[in-house]
Amino acid sequence: MTEFDEQLLEGMRKGRHIVVFTGAGASAESGIPTFRDRQSGLWQKFDAAELATPGAFRADPSLVWGWYESRRRAVRCAQPNGAHEAIAQMARHVPRLTLITQNVDDLHERAGSRDVLHLHGELAHPYCEGCRRRHDFQEQTPPDACQTGRIEPPRCATCGGRIRPGVVWFGESLPGAVWQASCEAARQAHVFLCIGTSSVVQPAASLTGLAIEAGAMTVQINPNPTSMDGDVRFTYRGPAGMLLPQLIEQAWPSN
Ligand code: OAD
Repeated sequence: MTEFDEQLLEGMRKGRHIVVFTGAGASAESGIPTFRDRQSGLWQKFDAAELATPGAFRADPSLVWGWYESRRRAVRCAQPNGAHEAIAQMARHVPRLTLITQNVDDLHERAGSRDVLHLHGELAHPYCEGCRRRHDFQEQTPPDACQTGRIEPPRCATCGGRIRPGVVWFGESLPGAVWQASCEAARQAHVFLCIGTSSVVQPAASLTGLAIEAGAMTVQINPNPTSMDGDVRFTYRGPAGMLLPQLIEQAWPSN
């Protein structure tokens, strides 16, 4: 059992606005690999960062679409873990909670979180490259089907354009309104928690700096060292699925 600092627990109880900023580590215990993990199966020989670019999709659309389909299906088969659930629960204890995620899965929503700010888009919302209309999946494959290869991207029902994954690729801008709302929340946060992020991908990682400048109490939960170790006030090393439920229980004991 980790003993959290009393100052942090007090800050969480009194804080009027808590901001939670999550990365791939929040979904790791649901079996979704982080970006720095080695990929599995057919995808072992590919580097995730090389598939997640506009150039990769242009050069080989069926390879990149197939890879995102394998990720989307892995997410459909996965369940939220203790970290997702603890964050949803935290929202019930505080006047205002903003959840900002770099994750493209829907595990926060499935744990009960609402109005999640998805900085890097969502696997579930691909759209047309041409007219940018959203594409709805007509699921024909069972969710547990093991997806291992290239798949031709579907075509837009309206304009015939090619459908692309609904995620932000390296070199692309973040969705403007989501980024604005995230910066605003970071500047207003009383407590700012970084959960399971390596804090190396910009501009997302700069949110923590905004919160520090604005005087928030900053906290990090991660089993490994990160680039924010020297900057945040409290660092707890360990898996988020285990530590976050303990943090909630110590901040707001159930009995
Ligand atoms: P990374 O893959 O860079 O980092 C994952 C972090 O999770 C690492 O710091 C791990 O130590 C930590 N971690 C692993 N297991 C954990 C656990 N059980 N509990 C808590 N932490 C754990 O993922 P992100 O920081 O999310 O961008 O990466 C940011 C962005 O880089 C992604 O959104 C993606 C990526 O390339 C785009 O696709 C644009």
